[in-house]
Amino acid sequence: MNLAINLLGVTKVYPGVTALDNIDLQVRKGSVHGFIGPNGAGKSTTMKIIAGLIPATSGLVEVDGKEVSKNAAFVSTKIGLLPEQPPLYNGMKVGDYLKFCQEINWNPAEAQIDPAELLESILTRCKLQDVKNRLIGNLSKGFKQRVAMAQALVYGADIIILDEPTVGLDPNAIADVRLLIEELKKEHTILLSSHQLHEVAKICDEITIIDQGKILRTGPLLTIQSEFSAFKTYEAILSNLGGELKKELFAKDYIQGMDILEHPDGVFLRIRIQGDQDYRSSLTELLASKGNLLEFKERKMELEEAFREIVRG
Ligand SMILES: Nc1ncnc2c1ncn2[C@@H]1O[C@H](COP(=O)(O)OP(=O)(O)OP(=O)(O)O)[C@@H](O)[C@H]1O
Ligand SMILES: [Mg+2]
Repeated sequence: MNLAINLLGVTKVYPGVTALDNIDLQVRKGSVHGFIGPNGAGKSTTMKIIAGLIPATSGLVEVDGKEVSKNAAFVSTKIGLLPEQPPLYNGMKVGDYLKFCQEINWNPAEAQIDPAELLESILTRCKLQDVKNRLIGNLSKGFKQRVAMAQALVYGADIIILDEPTVGLDPNAIADVRLLIEELKKEHTILLSSHQLHEVAKICDEITIIDQGKILRTGPLLTIQSEFSAFKTYEAILSNLGGELKKELFAKDYIQGMDILEHPDGVFLRIRIQGDQDYRSSLTELLASKGNLLEFKERKMELEEAFREIVRG
Protein backbone atom coordinates (compact mmCIF):
# COMPACT_ATOMS: atom_id res chain seq x y z
CA MET A 1 0.00 0.00 0.00
CA ASN A 2 1.16 3.50 -0.72
CA LEU A 3 1.37 5.08 2.71
CA ALA A 4 1.87 8.74 3.55
CA ILE A 5 1.96 7.96 7.27
CA ASN A 6 2.75 4.64 8.89
CA LEU A 7 2.83 4.03 12.63
CA LEU A 8 3.54 0.57 14.00
CA GLY A 9 3.45 -0.31 17.68
CA VAL A 10 3.81 3.29 18.81
CA THR A 11 3.76 3.99 22.53
CA LYS A 12 4.10 7.37 24.20
CA VAL A 13 4.60 7.65 27.91
CA TYR A 14 4.51 11.05 29.58
CA PRO A 15 5.55 11.08 33.24
CA GLY A 16 2.76 9.12 34.90
CA VAL A 17 0.55 8.89 31.77
CA THR A 18 0.60 6.36 28.95
CA ALA A 19 -0.87 8.59 26.24
CA LEU A 20 -0.45 6.05 23.42
CA ASP A 21 -0.42 2.34 24.01
CA ASN A 22 1.08 0.38 21.12
CA ILE A 23 -0.90 1.99 18.30
CA ASP A 24 -0.85 1.24 14.57
CA LEU A 25 -2.03 3.93 12.17
CA GLN A 26 -1.85 3.86 8.39
CA VAL A 27 -2.79 6.86 6.29
CA ARG A 28 -2.98 6.20 2.56
CA LYS A 29 -1.48 8.69 0.13
CA GLY A 30 -4.15 10.94 -1.28
CA SER A 31 -6.73 10.11 1.41
CA VAL A 32 -8.53 12.39 3.81
CA HIS A 33 -8.28 10.54 7.09
CA GLY A 34 -10.38 11.53 10.07
CA PHE A 35 -8.88 10.96 13.50
CA ILE A 36 -11.55 10.98 16.16
CA GLY A 37 -11.79 10.16 19.83
CA PRO A 38 -12.87 11.71 23.12
CA ASN A 39 -10.84 14.33 25.01
CA GLY A 40 -7.52 12.96 26.18
CA ALA A 41 -7.65 10.01 23.75
CA GLY A 42 -4.20 10.75 22.32
CA LYS A 43 -4.98 12.49 19.00
CA SER A 44 -2.79 15.56 19.46
CA THR A 45 0.01 13.43 20.88
CA THR A 46 -0.08 11.20 17.79
CA MET A 47 -0.08 14.19 15.46
CA LYS A 48 2.86 15.81 17.21
CA ILE A 49 4.80 12.55 16.97
CA ILE A 50 4.10 12.25 13.23
CA ALA A 51 5.24 15.82 12.67
CA GLY A 52 8.41 15.13 14.65
CA LEU A 53 7.66 17.69 17.37
CA ILE A 54 7.91 15.12 20.14
CA PRO A 55 9.49 11.66 20.05
CA ALA A 56 7.61 8.42 20.55
CA THR A 57 8.74 6.38 23.54
CA SER A 58 8.87 3.31 21.30
CA GLY A 59 7.63 2.04 17.95
CA LEU A 60 8.05 2.87 14.28
CA VAL A 61 6.95 6.24 12.86
CA GLU A 62 7.31 6.76 9.12
CA VAL A 63 6.39 9.63 6.86
CA ASP A 64 6.48 8.85 3.16
CA GLY A 65 8.51 5.74 3.92
CA LYS A 66 11.15 7.52 5.98
CA GLU A 67 11.64 7.17 9.70
CA VAL A 68 10.70 10.47 11.34
CA SER A 69 13.36 10.42 14.08
CA LYS A 70 16.16 10.09 11.50
CA ASN A 71 14.84 12.50 8.89
CA ALA A 72 13.85 15.67 10.72
CA ALA A 73 14.51 18.10 7.87
CA PHE A 74 12.67 15.92 5.35
CA VAL A 75 9.65 15.58 7.65
CA SER A 76 9.43 19.31 8.35
CA THR A 77 9.11 20.13 4.65
CA LYS A 78 6.86 17.15 3.93
CA ILE A 79 4.34 17.85 6.68
CA GLY A 80 2.25 20.95 7.25
CA LEU A 81 0.84 20.89 10.78
CA LEU A 82 -1.94 22.97 12.22
CA PRO A 83 -1.29 22.26 15.89
CA GLU A 84 -3.85 22.42 18.69
CA GLN A 85 -2.14 25.50 20.09
CA PRO A 86 -0.57 27.30 17.15
CA PRO A 87 2.62 29.18 17.99
CA LEU A 88 1.69 32.53 16.43
CA TYR A 89 3.90 35.57 16.88
CA ASN A 90 1.57 38.32 17.99
CA GLY A 91 4.08 41.04 17.18
CA MET A 92 4.40 40.05 13.52
CA LYS A 93 2.22 41.02 10.60
CA VAL A 94 0.23 38.21 8.98
CA GLY A 95 2.05 38.38 5.63
CA ASP A 96 5.51 38.60 7.22
CA TYR A 97 4.79 35.71 9.56
CA LEU A 98 3.61 33.47 6.74
CA LYS A 99 6.64 34.39 4.66
CA PHE A 100 8.85 33.50 7.62
CA CYS A 101 7.10 30.12 8.04
CA GLN A 102 7.55 29.49 4.36
CA GLU A 103 11.26 30.31 4.41
CA ILE A 104 12.14 28.04 7.32
CA ASN A 105 10.42 25.00 5.79
CA TRP A 106 10.93 25.60 2.08
CA ASN A 107 12.57 22.83 0.13
CA PRO A 108 13.84 24.25 -3.18
CA ALA A 109 14.64 20.75 -4.47
CA GLU A 110 11.00 19.65 -4.15
CA ALA A 111 9.20 22.91 -4.85
CA GLN A 112 7.39 23.12 -8.15
CA ILE A 113 5.95 26.56 -7.63
CA ASP A 114 7.30 30.01 -6.99
CA PRO A 115 7.16 30.71 -3.21
CA ALA A 116 5.71 34.22 -3.60
CA GLU A 117 2.99 32.85 -5.88
CA LEU A 118 2.13 30.11 -3.38
CA LEU A 119 2.02 32.64 -0.53
CA GLU A 120 -0.41 34.81 -2.50
CA SER A 121 -2.66 31.88 -3.31
CA ILE A 122 -2.72 30.72 0.32
CA LEU A 123 -3.56 34.26 1.51
CA THR A 124 -6.48 34.22 -0.92
CA ARG A 125 -7.62 30.66 -0.17
CA CYS A 126 -7.56 31.32 3.59
CA LYS A 127 -9.30 34.68 3.11
CA LEU A 128 -6.43 36.59 4.68
CA GLN A 129 -5.70 39.13 1.92
CA ASP A 130 -7.52 41.93 3.77
CA VAL A 131 -5.55 41.41 6.97
CA LYS A 132 -2.10 40.61 5.61
CA ASN A 133 -0.64 43.89 6.90
CA ARG A 134 -2.22 43.62 10.36
CA LEU A 135 -0.49 42.44 13.50
CA ILE A 136 -1.46 38.88 14.39
CA GLY A 137 -1.97 39.89 18.03
CA ASN A 138 -4.79 42.23 17.02
CA LEU A 139 -6.77 39.67 15.04
CA SER A 140 -9.93 37.97 16.27
CA LYS A 141 -9.72 34.33 17.32
CA GLY A 142 -11.23 33.09 14.05
CA PHE A 143 -8.72 35.02 11.98
CA LYS A 144 -5.85 33.78 14.12
CA GLN A 145 -7.08 30.26 13.37
CA ARG A 146 -6.99 31.06 9.64
CA VAL A 147 -3.41 32.30 9.98
CA ALA A 148 -2.53 29.07 11.79
CA MET A 149 -4.13 27.10 8.97
CA ALA A 150 -2.25 29.14 6.38
CA GLN A 151 1.15 28.51 8.03
CA ALA A 152 0.56 24.77 7.58
CA LEU A 153 0.00 25.24 3.86
CA VAL A 154 2.40 27.98 2.90
CA TYR A 155 5.48 25.89 2.16
CA GLY A 156 3.68 23.40 -0.08
CA ALA A 157 3.87 20.32 2.17
CA ASP A 158 2.36 17.15 0.70
CA ILE A 159 0.84 15.92 3.91
CA ILE A 160 -1.38 18.25 5.88
CA ILE A 161 -2.16 17.47 9.52
CA LEU A 162 -4.97 19.50 11.00
CA ASP A 163 -5.61 19.23 14.74
CA GLU A 164 -9.18 20.45 15.22
CA PRO A 165 -9.13 23.04 12.43
CA THR A 166 -12.65 24.32 13.04
CA VAL A 167 -12.44 24.88 16.77
CA GLY A 168 -13.65 28.36 17.71
CA LEU A 169 -14.87 29.24 14.22
CA ASP A 170 -18.27 30.66 13.28
CA PRO A 171 -20.53 28.56 11.00
CA ASN A 172 -19.47 30.41 7.84
CA ALA A 173 -15.81 29.99 8.65
CA ILE A 174 -16.40 26.28 9.34
CA ALA A 175 -17.95 25.96 5.89
CA ASP A 176 -14.90 27.77 4.45
CA VAL A 177 -12.58 25.26 6.12
CA ARG A 178 -14.57 22.41 4.62
CA LEU A 179 -14.32 23.94 1.15
CA LEU A 180 -10.62 24.51 1.65
CA ILE A 181 -10.12 20.86 2.63
CA GLU A 182 -12.12 19.75 -0.43
CA GLU A 183 -9.71 21.85 -2.51
CA LEU A 184 -6.58 20.56 -0.74
CA LYS A 185 -7.74 16.99 -1.08
CA LYS A 186 -6.97 17.08 -4.80
CA GLU A 187 -3.25 17.45 -4.19
CA HIS A 188 -2.58 16.48 -0.60
CA THR A 189 -2.94 13.74 1.94
CA ILE A 190 -4.85 15.04 4.93
CA LEU A 191 -5.03 13.78 8.50
CA LEU A 192 -7.68 15.63 10.41
CA SER A 193 -8.81 15.48 14.02
CA SER A 194 -12.17 16.89 14.97
CA HIS A 195 -15.00 16.55 17.43
CA GLN A 196 -17.44 17.66 14.71
CA LEU A 197 -18.31 14.16 13.57
CA HIS A 198 -20.84 15.23 10.96
CA GLU A 199 -18.06 17.32 9.37
CA VAL A 200 -15.69 14.35 9.50
CA ALA A 201 -18.34 12.16 7.86
CA LYS A 202 -18.74 14.69 5.06
CA ILE A 203 -15.06 15.22 4.33
CA CYS A 204 -13.17 12.02 5.14
CA ASP A 205 -12.90 8.77 3.25
CA GLU A 206 -11.17 6.89 6.05
CA ILE A 207 -11.37 7.20 9.81
CA THR A 208 -9.55 6.02 12.88
CA ILE A 209 -11.17 5.99 16.27
CA ILE A 210 -8.89 6.26 19.27
CA ASP A 211 -9.76 6.09 22.96
CA GLN A 212 -7.46 6.07 25.98
CA GLY A 213 -4.39 5.65 23.84
CA LYS A 214 -5.71 2.63 21.94
CA ILE A 215 -7.02 2.38 18.38
CA LEU A 216 -10.57 1.03 18.47
CA ARG A 217 -11.34 1.06 14.75
CA THR A 218 -9.63 2.09 11.55
CA GLY A 219 -10.69 1.83 7.92
CA PRO A 220 -13.00 3.28 5.28
CA LEU A 221 -15.72 5.46 6.75
CA LEU A 222 -18.44 3.45 5.03
CA THR A 223 -17.17 0.14 6.42
CA ILE A 224 -17.14 1.47 9.96
CA GLN A 225 -20.58 2.98 9.60
CA SER A 226 -22.04 -0.16 8.04
CA GLU A 227 -20.63 -2.31 10.81
CA PHE A 228 -23.18 -0.56 12.96
CA SER A 229 -26.09 -0.83 10.58
CA ALA A 230 -27.05 -3.84 12.68
CA PHE A 231 -28.34 -1.24 15.12
CA LYS A 232 -31.23 0.21 13.19
CA THR A 233 -33.39 2.97 14.49
CA TYR A 234 -37.00 3.66 13.63
CA GLU A 235 -38.63 6.94 14.46
CA ALA A 236 -42.37 7.39 14.78
CA ILE A 237 -44.75 10.14 15.71
CA LEU A 238 -48.05 9.04 17.28
CA SER A 239 -50.88 11.19 18.45
CA ASN A 240 -51.06 9.08 21.58
CA LEU A 241 -49.29 6.13 23.14
CA GLY A 242 -51.51 4.12 25.44
CA GLY A 243 -50.37 1.70 28.10
CA GLU A 244 -51.43 -1.36 26.14
CA LEU A 245 -49.41 -0.41 23.07
CA LYS A 246 -46.43 0.49 25.23
CA LYS A 247 -46.58 -2.92 26.89
CA GLU A 248 -46.81 -4.65 23.55
CA LEU A 249 -43.79 -2.77 22.23
CA PHE A 250 -41.72 -3.55 25.29
CA ALA A 251 -42.57 -7.23 24.88
CA LYS A 252 -41.01 -7.46 21.40
CA ASP A 253 -37.64 -9.10 21.77
CA TYR A 254 -36.16 -7.44 18.67
CA ILE A 255 -36.68 -4.02 20.24
CA GLN A 256 -33.48 -3.22 22.05
CA GLY A 257 -34.45 0.11 23.49
CA MET A 258 -36.97 2.86 23.20
CA ASP A 259 -37.03 6.60 23.85
CA ILE A 260 -40.43 8.15 24.41
CA LEU A 261 -40.41 11.92 24.05
CA GLU A 262 -43.00 14.66 23.97
CA HIS A 263 -43.90 16.04 20.57
CA PRO A 264 -46.21 18.93 19.51
CA ASP A 265 -48.43 16.37 17.72
CA GLY A 266 -48.37 13.85 20.58
CA VAL A 267 -45.53 11.44 21.21
CA PHE A 268 -42.17 10.93 19.51
CA LEU A 269 -40.87 7.36 19.62
CA ARG A 270 -37.32 6.31 18.88
CA ILE A 271 -37.06 2.56 18.64
CA ARG A 272 -33.73 0.78 18.51
CA ILE A 273 -33.79 -2.52 16.70
CA GLN A 274 -31.34 -5.34 17.06
CA GLY A 275 -30.56 -7.48 14.02
CA ASP A 276 -30.72 -6.68 10.36
CA GLN A 277 -34.25 -7.84 9.64
CA ASP A 278 -36.81 -5.38 8.34
CA TYR A 279 -39.54 -4.77 10.91
CA ARG A 280 -41.07 -1.74 9.22
CA SER A 281 -44.32 -3.26 8.04
CA SER A 282 -45.16 -5.15 11.22
CA LEU A 283 -44.29 -2.14 13.37
CA THR A 284 -46.21 0.40 11.31
CA GLU A 285 -49.21 -1.92 11.35
CA LEU A 286 -49.08 -2.23 15.12
CA LEU A 287 -48.50 1.50 15.70
CA ALA A 288 -51.21 2.48 13.23
CA SER A 289 -53.81 0.14 14.66
CA LYS A 290 -53.21 0.99 18.31
CA GLY A 291 -51.68 4.44 18.40
CA ASN A 292 -52.79 6.59 15.46
CA LEU A 293 -49.52 6.71 13.60
CA LEU A 294 -48.72 10.11 12.05
CA GLU A 295 -45.20 9.55 10.77
CA PHE A 296 -42.73 6.67 10.54
CA LYS A 297 -39.21 6.44 9.18
CA GLU A 298 -36.06 4.40 9.38
CA ARG A 299 -32.91 6.19 10.30
CA LYS A 300 -29.46 4.88 9.47
CA MET A 301 -26.83 5.19 12.13
CA GLU A 302 -24.79 8.34 11.75
CA LEU A 303 -21.08 8.46 12.49
CA GLU A 304 -21.95 10.24 15.73
CA GLU A 305 -23.90 7.27 17.03
CA ALA A 306 -21.48 4.66 15.66
CA PHE A 307 -18.74 6.56 17.49
CA ARG A 308 -20.65 6.46 20.77
CA GLU A 309 -21.32 2.74 20.36
CA ILE A 310 -17.64 2.04 19.66
CA VAL A 311 -16.20 4.25 22.38
CA ARG A 312 -18.69 2.98 24.94
CA GLY A 313 -17.45 -0.51 24.07
N1 LIG B 1 3.02 17.22 27.82
C1 LIG B 1 2.28 16.34 28.48
N2 LIG B 1 2.64 15.89 29.70
C2 LIG B 1 1.92 14.98 30.39
N3 LIG B 1 0.77 14.44 29.91
C3 LIG B 1 0.34 14.84 28.71
C4 LIG B 1 1.06 15.82 27.94
N4 LIG B 1 0.39 16.01 26.79
C5 LIG B 1 -0.71 15.22 26.82
N5 LIG B 1 -0.74 14.51 27.98
C6 LIG B 1 -1.75 13.50 28.37
O1 LIG B 1 -1.79 12.52 27.33
C7 LIG B 1 -3.13 12.11 27.08
C8 LIG B 1 -3.49 12.35 25.64
O2 LIG B 1 -3.56 13.75 25.39
P1 LIG B 1 -3.83 14.37 23.96
O3 LIG B 1 -3.66 15.83 24.09
O4 LIG B 1 -2.99 13.67 22.96
O5 LIG B 1 -5.37 13.99 23.72
P2 LIG B 1 -6.38 14.46 22.61
O6 LIG B 1 -6.99 13.24 22.03
O7 LIG B 1 -5.72 15.41 21.67
O8 LIG B 1 -7.51 15.21 23.44
P3 LIG B 1 -8.41 16.52 23.08
O9 LIG B 1 -9.57 16.00 22.27
O10 LIG B 1 -8.85 16.98 24.41
O11 LIG B 1 -7.56 17.50 22.35
C9 LIG B 1 -3.98 12.87 28.09
O12 LIG B 1 -4.17 12.05 29.20
C10 LIG B 1 -3.13 14.09 28.42
O13 LIG B 1 -3.42 14.54 29.72
MG1 LIG C 1 -6.04 17.31 21.15
